[in-house]
Amino acid sequence: MAPVSTRHLLKMKTQGEKIVAVTAYDYPFARLADASGVDMILVGDSLAMVVQGQKTTLPVTMEEMLYHTRMVSRAAEKALVVGDMPFLSYQADIGEAVRNAGLFLKEAGASAVKLEGGAGVCATIKAIVDAGIPVQAHIGLTPQSVHAMGGYRIQRDEERLVEDAHRVTEAGAFSVVLEGIPAPIARRITEEIAIPTIGIGAGVDCDGQILVMHDLLGLNLGYMPKFTKLFADLKGEAVKGFKAYGDAVREGSFPGPEHSYE
Ligand code: KIV
Ligand code: NA
Repeated sequence: MAPVSTRHLLKMKTQGEKIVAVTAYDYPFARLADASGVDMILVGDSLAMVVQGQKTTLPVTMEEMLYHTRMVSRAAEKALVVGDMPFLSYQADIGEAVRNAGLFLKEAGASAVKLEGGAGVCATIKAIVDAGIPVQAHIGLTPQSVHAMGGYRIQRDEERLVEDAHRVTEAGAFSVVLEGIPAPIARRITEEIAIPTIGIGAGVDCDGQILVMHDLLGLNLGYMPKFTKLFADLKGEAVKGFKAYGDAVREGSFPGPEHSYE
C-alpha cells in the first residue's frame, strides 16, 4: 500500500472522500491506528496533557516532540505522519521555525509539520514550505494561545476565521485543522478553500476529522470536551486487566505451572 502523501489528501478532498485523522504518541498505538486504515497520524502537542499529565500544551519541548514523533514514524507504514510544532518552537523567529520544522523530518521521520495560527503566522508557513517542508495550519481554537483566548473557548468570529483560512491557503499550507468553531463556518471555509479541512469540534462538513486518541479510546482520565466521542473503553479494559492480575497474584493462581520453569 503506497503511503499517504499530502497530494493524496488533496485528491481525497476533490473526490469527496472523507479523511480520517487521529493523534498517536507511541509505537504500539501508531501501529494499531495505521493498520486500522487511518489516513493521517498527528503527533499532537496534546501529548503534554494526555501523556505527560500537564495542565496545558505549553510546556512540551521540541526534544520531547521529536522523541514521540520518532516512535510514531517507525510504526506508520501507510498513514501520513505530521509532527506538531510545540509552543515557542516557531513563534519567535522565522529561521528558528524553519530549523525546528526541518528537525521533524530530518531527525524524527515525519512527512509534515503542523503549527497554530492564521494570518499572523503566514510568513512563517511560507518560509517553512519554501524549505520543502509541508505545513498543516491550525485555526480557530488554538490551545497554545489558551491564555490569550481567556480559556478554551469556541471561536465565533466568522470573518476572521474565513480570512485566516484563505491566508494560510495562500501561504502554502497543504491542509488546515479547524478546531472549536461553529459547524456552519467550518462548512463555508471547506467550500471556499482548495485545501482539505480537518475538523475537531467543527461539525460534519469538514473534509476530514481528527480526534485525540485518548479521547476516542477512553484513555482520557480528565476533562472530555463536548466534541469528543468514546468509540471504545480501553480505560475499563485496562482496569479490569490490572485488577484480574492483582487478584491472581494475591490468591497465588498466577503464575501457574505453564508460566514457570522446571
Ligand atoms: O495536539 C493535538 O492533538 C492537536 C489536534 C487536536 C488537532 O492539535
Ligand atoms: Na496541537
